Amino acid sequence: KKGSYDHFMQKEIHEQPHSLTTTMRGRLKDGGVLLGGLKEHLKTIRRCRRVVFIGCGTSYNAALAARTFVEELTGIPVTMEVASDLLDRQGPIYREDTAVFVSQSGETADTLLALDYALENGALCVGITNTVGSTLSRKTHCGVHINAGCEIGVASTKAYTSQIVAMAMMALAIGSDQISTQARRDAIISGLTSLPSCVSEVLKLDAEMKELAYSLIDSESLLVFGRGYNYATALEGALKVKEVALMHSEGMLAGEMKHGPLALVDENLPIIVIATHDACFSKQQSVIQQLLSRKGRLIVMCSKGDASAVCPNGSCRVIEVPGVADCLQPVINIIPLQLLAYHLTVLRGFDVDQPRNLAKSVTTQ
Ligand code: UD1
Ligand code: F6R
Repeated sequence: KKGSYDHFMQKEIHEQPHSLTTTMRGRLKDGGVLLGGLKEHLKTIRRCRRVVFIGCGTSYNAALAARTFVEELTGIPVTMEVASDLLDRQGPIYREDTAVFVSQSGETADTLLALDYALENGALCVGITNTVGSTLSRKTHCGVHINAGCEIGVASTKAYTSQIVAMAMMALAIGSDQISTQARRDAIISGLTSLPSCVSEVLKLDAEMKELAYSLIDSESLLVFGRGYNYATALEGALKVKEVALMHSEGMLAGEMKHGPLALVDENLPIIVIATHDACFSKQQSVIQQLLSRKGRLIVMCSKGDASAVCPNGSCRVIEVPGVADCLQPVINIIPLQLLAYHLTVLRGFDVDQPRNLAKSVTTQ
């Protein structure tokens, strides 16, 4: 079933133009969004006091990527919960909350226990899952199947991008009664339509990412700095590198760099800075300057045509990616990092589809 690919992870990375198409199929209609699984509940969601996103690992990161645009398009405050941490704290969940559970498998124990907890507390519980008939799908009040197709590689790749797109459609549907954001919604819908072709384009970076992986093969650690829409990209890129390539990697908020991580910077430690074009661009430019002045070994991800703006004297390696609507850019930006983690794993001689100590679905607490 791997076809011409060597590994499921590789196949699933390259499948994303198709999986994203199936996520959106039949759901973008007449310039609007139609999510059959939510339409009866939109009124209740619009009235809620807050949205709480709950998940683990990659699914948590997808929710984090969605947080900003959900707040922007709905005006509802969004808080984030790692499922195990919500349970450890027995954090407050109220009847007036909409709790959105994100899980590829729909069977993750921590996420399901958090669901029981939110149900007991009377919240409206919404599921975002890839698995029809899963416990999550059955126990939530309503939800959206992301329809990414079966994901086999332990490292989640195509589910991550489909989760973000499903949540983008959810935000558009919830916010669809707001006149003031109509133009913004139209722009995002047109961005969604062009997303699969942009993903095909960014996948052409495969050979370049293999070459980059080769240069990082013996590194002990890799930092990834992101902010705004792409803070989640930094976390998710680092998670991929550590779980499959078995290399220490941390995703960090670029705004926190001065508050500690800067001390790590030297000419050896590779650092990826995500600096695609959005409202945070000039802040990322100054982060790059500060890192370069400490002789940091930089790899900068930027929008096509921005290479000289992010790296004036050619002092860093540049990954140029196609631009889409800012809030959808995380879908594009994660792909070179997925490819990098994949090639790094193969070059370092580790098992891509079955990383040591990990299981596809974590059904124990
Ligand atoms: C549904 C059909 C799809 C069909 C389409 C045609 C299913 C699973 N989906 O898709 O095959 O092509 O209508 O209009 O039969 N749900 C939850 N929790 C979750 C996920 C989903 O409760 O975590 C519920 C939804 O609220 C909904 C149902 O499951 O009632 C199906 O969800 P979804 O597949 O996303 O709905 P449609 O896109 O309408
Ligand atoms: C990372 C990965 C895990 C899962 C996590 C949640 O690549 O796959 O971090 O994302 O175990 O799994 P689901 O989404 O099935 O709840």
